[in-house]
Amino acid sequence: MTASNTTNALQNIKGTILLAGAGKMGGAMLSGWLARGLDAKRVAVIEPNPSGEINALVTKGVRLNPTPKEIGTVATLVIALKPQTFRDAGATLRSFTGPSTLAASIMAGTTIASIEAACGGSVVRAMPNTPAAIGRGITVAVAAKNVSTAQRAAADALLRATGAVEWINEETLMDAVTAVSGSGPAYVFLVAEELARAGVEAGLPPELAAKLARETVAGSGELLRRSEAASATLRQNVTSPGGTTAAALEVLMGPDGMQSLLTRAVAAATKRSRELAK
Ligand SMILES: NC(=O)c1ccc[n+]([C@@H]2O[C@H](COP(=O)([O-])OP(=O)(O)OC[C@H]3O[C@@H](n4cnc5c(N)ncnc54)[C@H](OP(=O)(O)O)[C@@H]3O)[C@@H](O)[C@H]2O)c1
Repeated sequence: MTASNTTNALQNIKGTILLAGAGKMGGAMLSGWLARGLDAKRVAVIEPNPSGEINALVTKGVRLNPTPKEIGTVATLVIALKPQTFRDAGATLRSFTGPSTLAASIMAGTTIASIEAACGGSVVRAMPNTPAAIGRGITVAVAAKNVSTAQRAAADALLRATGAVEWINEETLMDAVTAVSGSGPAYVFLVAEELARAGVEAGLPPELAAKLARETVAGSGELLRRSEAASATLRQNVTSPGGTTAAALEVLMGPDGMQSLLTRAVAAATKRSRELAK
């Protein structure tokens, strides 16, 4: 979807959009909506400790901490609270929702059923990741059966403001999604950390090692994004037979290498996601 399509889709959303929780993720979504031309007057925010940036948006027309009386039943509620906050305070959101409200949640491990139970309305559950802060996230979304086509389009436009969106039909896949793309940025940052540490071990000054590791991870990510080639092809492109990369890959692709490590890491995160959803 192009940027102008996203802008049109955002502007086509009817009624007030209420954002509950304008922290890291909610704040990134709000910035994305406004940057793509959503009228600030259409947005209300519930946030007990608004940042300076959120407070500044009030002058642009964003309504901060309105009462249900002031804004009535909202067409769209976006929930970006911590799951534990939602467990305690989620039910208070019901005073803003009605049967035709779309409730779009980005809370990790919080099921469609528990969001329906607390807030009512038609629920879309989504899992973004932290590159959302720079508009480069990937979000996976799943809609409850009662979500209309228009509501799904609205959720898609709101989520797309922080990057790409993929829709799935089975909510049970959300645990594996969380383990791959939700937690995934941490795995990549760990690669940068460990590559730098290994560079120091191999004799490089720490500052140089950190810079080489950081730029290598960032540049390779950008190359992967811009290239149409599969990641395996890009890897093979830097691997000459009998060369230095091949020597390293023999270790990384060996029996206790990346395949086994990442399989176990993703399985552990998937299991934890299931446990947290209980
Ligand atoms: N960060 C990630 O990588 C990531 C990835 C995928 C999904 N998520 C999901 O995104 C959600 C938000 O995460 P986050 O990192 O953005 O957390 P966060 O920065 O802590 O944002 C949550 C915000 O909600 C506010 N809040 C607390 N109580 C509230 C209430 N009763 N009503 C309204 N707002 C309230 C918090 O204020 P205080 O700080 O004052 O408590 C905070 O500003 C989580 O459910 C998380 O699972 C996060």
